[in-house]
Amino acid sequence: MRKWYAVIGDPIEHSMSPLMHNAWMTQENRDASYIPIHVLPENLEQSVASLKTLGCSGWNITIPHKEKIIPYLDELDESARKMGAVNTVVRQQDGSYKGYNTDGLGFVRSLEEVIGNGHRHKHVLIIGAGGAARGIAFALVATGYTHITITNRTVSKAKAICDELDVEAIALSLNEAEEQLNQFDILIQTTSAGLNHSDFALPFSMNRLASTAIVADIVYNPLMTPFLNEAKKKGATVITGLGMFIHQGALAYSYWTGTYPEAEVVKDLLLEQLGGNLLHVNR
Ligand code: ATR
Repeated sequence: MRKWYAVIGDPIEHSMSPLMHNAWMTQENRDASYIPIHVLPENLEQSVASLKTLGCSGWNITIPHKEKIIPYLDELDESARKMGAVNTVVRQQDGSYKGYNTDGLGFVRSLEEVIGNGHRHKHVLIIGAGGAARGIAFALVATGYTHITITNRTVSKAKAICDELDVEAIALSLNEAEEQLNQFDILIQTTSAGLNHSDFALPFSMNRLASTAIVADIVYNPLMTPFLNEAKKKGATVITGLGMFIHQGALAYSYWTGTYPEAEVVKDLLLEQLGGNLLHVNR
């Protein structure tokens, strides 16, 4: 029987997940499709029950349901339990539904797609201490990264994540991080700085950034955030958020189907889509 997958969120019309997953399914000749479903917060419980009743094979979850969906699932993977958030649900053989979180590992895959796996002993600075930063910090440690520093406007939130990691991590204020910036090899920007319509463009000054640094942003619209533009001016290697988006999806796809799809197959499609969005936003 034809399988079907979905993404639920509010809003949902701008999600690029259907384009990406359908492209992979078509490329692999799978008898399956992936649809966007608009789910309002007050309808979440009923919607999850309906997806289960109708036999959905798996779905992704986007804003604002990633945390609230947890009580309605049958089981949680460790990745989702540690983060307290789910972005992927998988229908298991017995018909029960298990929640995963592929955001953190998706980021690490996209990072290592560019820099390889030879940098795991280098000094990493994570900027921000929200849900995304938490997922990335756990995934970096799970992958073997040993030197983690987290900086955040609210330092106590950075400290809380550091305390939960299995390596000795350091929490810094934004001012401290700015002063010590030249000591970091890899910077990962996870705050909402640089997002369309956000009220602040840079978390701190990039004056002390080393030209040898590798600088990643998790925001992918715009692709080149103000943070990445500054880093590029300093000569750093920059990594946009598009790779993380693709690999969080690729991991979800691999949990559903057993195959890890090719990132290259969807890159141009997504870039085209983003170009359209950017024109729209700029107008
Ligand atoms: P996500 O789940 O996407 O990580 P979040 O949990 O809302 O989103 O986290 C947003 C991050 O952006 C936090 O680190 C936040 O800092 P605080 O913990 O101090 O709130 C950071 N952030 C948001 N607006 C900011 C601003 N104007 N200046 C500095 N940091 C900001």
